Amino acid sequence: MRLLPLLSLLASLAIAPLVSAFGVTASGTQFIVQTDGGLVFIVESTTGDIHSMQFNGVETQDQSGKWSQISSGIGASCTWVQTGHSNNYIVVTCTTSTLTQYYVAQRNTPAIHMATYTTAEPSVGELRFIARLSRSVVPNGSMYSNIVGGTAVESSDVFLVNGQTRSKFYSAVQFIDDQVHGVTGSGIGVYMVIPGGGYESSSGGPFFKDIDNQGADQQELYFCTFDQNSGHTQTEAFRTGLHGPYALWFTTGAAPSANIDLTFWEGLSVSGLVPASGRGYIIGKAIGVPTTYNSDITITWNNSAAQYWARADSSTQDFTSPAMKPGTYEMVLYKGELAVGSQSVVIQAGERVTANIHDVNSDDTTAYIWQIGDFDGRPTSFLNADMITTMHPSDSRMHSWGPVTFTVGQQGSGYFPMAVFQAIGPVTIRFALQSGQGGARTLKIATSLAYAGGRPTITVNGWSGPVPPAPNEPNSRGVTRGTWRGNNQEYIVNIPSGVLFTGSTVNVITINVASGSSGSGFLSPNFVFDAVALY
Ligand SMILES: *[C@@H]1O[C@H](CO)[C@@H](O)[C@H](O)[C@H]1NC(C)=O
Ligand SMILES: *[C@@H]1O[C@H](CO)[C@@H](O)[C@H](O)[C@H]1NC(C)=O
Repeated sequence: MRLLPLLSLLASLAIAPLVSAFGVTASGTQFIVQTDGGLVFIVESTTGDIHSMQFNGVETQDQSGKWSQISSGIGASCTWVQTGHSNNYIVVTCTTSTLTQYYVAQRNTPAIHMATYTTAEPSVGELRFIARLSRSVVPNGSMYSNIVGGTAVESSDVFLVNGQTRSKFYSAVQFIDDQVHGVTGSGIGVYMVIPGGGYESSSGGPFFKDIDNQGADQQELYFCTFDQNSGHTQTEAFRTGLHGPYALWFTTGAAPSANIDLTFWEGLSVSGLVPASGRGYIIGKAIGVPTTYNSDITITWNNSAAQYWARADSSTQDFTSPAMKPGTYEMVLYKGELAVGSQSVVIQAGERVTANIHDVNSDDTTAYIWQIGDFDGRPTSFLNADMITTMHPSDSRMHSWGPVTFTVGQQGSGYFPMAVFQAIGPVTIRFALQSGQGGARTLKIATSLAYAGGRPTITVNGWSGPVPPAPNEPNSRGVTRGTWRGNNQEYIVNIPSGVLFTGSTVNVITINVASGSSGSGFLSPNFVFDAVALY
């Protein structure tokens, strides 16, 4: 039982920091790191865990025994060195056979800079850094992931608190928009900062997201970007190499900027770090994407070693990639979250390559008789889509999932459900056709994610469409975890001549969920709609 001596040590720290100038004091198995920026932190050298993070004399690390660490701890052994540019850096290197965790103090900076180098998929469970902070010091995190006092309603990670569903998953933000997230308390803020390029060795692309925060007995703050072992709607294989750099940043409350200068890493002898001089980048223009998407165009580059992205400028549609490692990349153009163009591009160190990319649909002149939603790879505008990222579909704040009947021309897409669940029932679409609109027609159903092999099967006025094969989708819970992002699919149903009515007789299409699996309620086979159209 070493908690008591530790607590007394910390109590003494609170009165007078043990280290008063930038540097490290080794005390027993602990490295006590003084940043001279208001932050003193302690790394346990025989595990790689962080046992203390005092900011302006306030202990932010929870002291109940679960420390800040990768996952539940990596059992590393650590060394430290004062180095870099005028010796203004302290590098604590914590090593295991396949994972090296770097903690870096930068003189006068209230932050723990970090990077995680892997040479194989580590056996630590989910590869993520979790700061386990004192709930009383930083009580305020994401309201959607504050589970204190909750009872589990799904798995052991979705809870009901005062009639509202909460989960750590509902704190997630898509990578492309997740550079700074944090928790706050009276006069203090602790933030995870993932600057541009920090997701280089993560997986899943710009629209993937994972846990940022869970407010439980401890206030947990995550850099959960590695998508390894997690089963969190993983669409790609994991990547090894240097994950990050990222930083745990301490302030008196306000969020720090994401634009932190990380060039200092280049002087620190870090495994897997490719310096700016060893990188190249790509510039170009996105061509042919409908102008309504001008501010919603994303370009990605990936291969088995790295992933990058950039948003196109909303007025010129020009883009500039981040500084990329040399290699051959698949380059993809996204309209919203839908891939609409793809090509290969090679980049070498020191190069600036120009590569324009075209929307392959820009010449498509298909005129839809009717359309529900937009084909942009996501369910935005549909019923409950505005709430699904922050609550469970069972939440009482959600509108009824029906089964819903939707009438084309009379209802906006906000009445059309964003998902169908086999056990809840189909969605029914009613519509009339004018003379000349009958005959053989095509129904296009686009989806963004499915669970348990769910895919659409339809009946039209008593005629049954085929059952499509099971989609290639992540083998994990999906939409109940607050995400719609999977592998976009398109289902084309050829409705033969003689099935559809014209004139005053209403046509009725029902869209059911086909699956070889089963399940109950919102964990029954399901899929998320992107858009539906008849032509
Ligand atoms: C922060 O948390 C405290 C304690 O739970 C609460 O009283 C306060 O209202 C919260 N502040 C904000 C801004 O949410
Ligand atoms: C690159 O991105 C595409 C589109 O998301 C994906 O299908 C592919 O698996 C990715 N490649 C790798 C090597 O992860």
